[in-house]
Amino acid sequence: MDTKRIGILGAGRAGTALARVAAAEGIEVQIASSRAPGMMKYHLAQYANKAVAVPAEEIADGVELVVLMVPQEDLDDIDPSSLDGVILVDATNRWDDEPLPDWFQDALDTNLSSSEVIAQRFPGCRVVKGLNHISHWDLDADKASRRSAQRALGVASNDAKAAQVVAKLVRTLGFDPVVLPNLAAGGVLEPEGPIFNEVLDAHGLRALAGLRL
Ligand SMILES: NC(=O)c1ccc[n+]([C@@H]2O[C@H](COP(=O)([O-])OP(=O)(O)OC[C@H]3O[C@@H](n4cnc5c(N)ncnc54)[C@H](OP(=O)(O)O)[C@@H]3O)[C@@H](O)[C@H]2O)c1
Repeated sequence: MDTKRIGILGAGRAGTALARVAAAEGIEVQIASSRAPGMMKYHLAQYANKAVAVPAEEIADGVELVVLMVPQEDLDDIDPSSLDGVILVDATNRWDDEPLPDWFQDALDTNLSSSEVIAQRFPGCRVVKGLNHISHWDLDADKASRRSAQRALGVASNDAKAAQVVAKLVRTLGFDPVVLPNLAAGGVLEPEGPIFNEVLDAHGLRALAGLRL
C-alpha cells in the first residue's frame, strides 16, 4: 500500500524540503521541530505551507513512517519511546565537526554505521537509512527534472519489508530507489562515502555500493 501520510521530525532545510516535495505528490505531512507548533506558524507558511505542525512527542501519531531530519548532536533531546512502532527513516548525517552525544560517539567507536547506532538508540523502530545523501536543493527540484534525471537514492535496512515501504516512498517522490542489503551496507551512503551528494542512476549507485550489477 502507498504511504499516504508521513511524519517529519525536524523542520529545517531538509525537513521542509521533504515536506514540500511530499505534499506535491499528494502525501499528507505532519512535521515537528524543537519548537511548539504555534511557534512554527510563520516558518511553515514560508517553507512548507501544506505541512501540519505537531508537537515533537506526537510526531508518530497516526503514521506508519517518520523521517528523522534532526542534527545528530540534538538527538539526546528526543525520547526514543515516542517513536515506538514506526518505520524510522534515518536521513541524518555524521559530520566530523559536529559534537555528538556520548552514547552516539561510543557506539561509532565500535565501528557501527551511524544508522546502526540510531537503531540501537530507537529499539522500538524499524530503522531504514535513506534520504540522507541528497541535498535539500536536489530533493526539492522540480518534478519534471526529478523524474527525467532518474536519480537513484539508496535505501538500507535490516528489515526487508520496511526497506520496501521506504523504497516505494522514494519512487513516489520521483527518484529511483536502490535497496542495499542491511544497515551496515548503508554506511556507504554517509558523507565520507562515494555516493554522498553524487547524482547517480541506479546502475551507477549499485556499482559504487559494491552490489551485483
Ligand atoms: N540540509 C540538507 O541538504 C540535508 C539533506 C539530507 C539530510 N540532511 C541531514 O538532516 C539533518 C538535519 O539537517 P538540516 O540541514 O535540515 O538542519 P537544520 O536546517 O539545522 O534543521 C534542523 C531542524 O531540527 C530541529 N530540531 C532540533 N532539535 C530537535 C528536537 N529535539 N526535536 C525536534 N526537532 C528538533 C530544529 O528545530 P528548531 O528550528 O526548532 O531548532 C530544526 O527544525 C542533518 O543530520 C543533515 O545532515 C540534511
